[in-house]
Amino acid sequence: MFRATGNYGLLQGNYLFSEIAKRIEAYVAKNPDADIIRMGIGDVTRPLVPAVVSAMHKAVDEMGAKETFRGYGPEQGYAFLREAIAAGDYHARGVEVAADEIFVSDGAKCDVGSIQELFGENTVVAVTDPVYPVYVDTNVMAGRAGKYDAKKGGYEKIVYLPCTQENGFVPELPATPVDVIYLCYPNNPTGTTLTKAQLKVFVDYANKNGALLLYDSAYEVFISDPDVPHSIFEVEGAKTCAIEFRSFSKTAGFTGTRCAYAVVPKTLEYKDDTGSTVSLNAMWNRRHCTRFNGVPYITQMGALATYSAEGRAQVLESANYYMENARIIKAGLEQAGYAVFGGENAPYIWLKVPGGDSWAFFDELLKTKQIVGTPGAGFGNAGEGYFRMTAFASRENTKRAVERILTSTR
Ligand code: MLT
Repeated sequence: MFRATGNYGLLQGNYLFSEIAKRIEAYVAKNPDADIIRMGIGDVTRPLVPAVVSAMHKAVDEMGAKETFRGYGPEQGYAFLREAIAAGDYHARGVEVAADEIFVSDGAKCDVGSIQELFGENTVVAVTDPVYPVYVDTNVMAGRAGKYDAKKGGYEKIVYLPCTQENGFVPELPATPVDVIYLCYPNNPTGTTLTKAQLKVFVDYANKNGALLLYDSAYEVFISDPDVPHSIFEVEGAKTCAIEFRSFSKTAGFTGTRCAYAVVPKTLEYKDDTGSTVSLNAMWNRRHCTRFNGVPYITQMGALATYSAEGRAQVLESANYYMENARIIKAGLEQAGYAVFGGENAPYIWLKVPGGDSWAFFDELLKTKQIVGTPGAGFGNAGEGYFRMTAFASRENTKRAVERILTSTR
């Protein structure tokens, strides 16, 4: 007799962004004329840049001609893209990453969700708190998190590293032994960053204790501060303890196009549950080939175009546009009297909620200003009392949102 896993029953409520969508839908059903400004889910609003569009058009033509048509491509991604990534995102920053350490995929969300298939049976996981919910939920689904403990404000078997105003949003090392630490910088949701020296503390911990760092740098294109590292591999020692996840979603407007990659260094060697030494690069390669038939050629050609001089300039222009939005939001919120964080090297602005109840603030903002943001509590216990706004709206809507907030608070 088939039985479904009981692990899904351990999940807390709906997936955050589905819950938000549900609340917006309910509000719109009652207020069909509401002029809602969406600054909730971090979805881009600017179209694909011209260099990407023309590369994809060309690729469509190739796929439509019998001489240049392609069927299955390499599961790990075409060599042209893996080599361009290695050169453009790593060698250009003085970081040694080889093309065969790069695995192109259809999204960083899928990669960070799937990576835990490589974990041994009793792996203990640590996450920063607040946290991108996928890191936690996928471990719950895999039965690794235990039950939700309301008193702890988290799952019994997960170690939480709080990042709040009090500690300057810098996580401390875990107080109890852990095997895996998920880090996301520039951070989703707080929009804060860590310096190389702060990241080195985690790299040293991982190397000393045989732990693995999972580093999500999906927002690196928004970094402008020269002291903020774009990659964990800029930190000495990271190639023996870290996997990095990157995405074209936020960097090049690919949220609807889907392309990302993971860097799994060949120097990552650990013992498996049987005591044998294994290569995570080989394991991820095996997993990728077994489960995935590669990102479409057309999409990969589009991604490749972001590494041309023209494409790079266009992508950076888009990133700057969003960061100008971030500046406008941050300045507006500060003017309105809020304590505001992030938004300088990341498209997320993290504000302190008066009264401390972030879902109540969400409902209130929707009801009184028709602005949608994301309640901090949705990202974890330490996110309660905060609220996230994204800089991904159009300039016009960004300005209108700030105007609405200022009008009410004056
Ligand atoms: C977010 O709003 O946190 C992101 O859009 C989620 C994602 O990238 O999946």
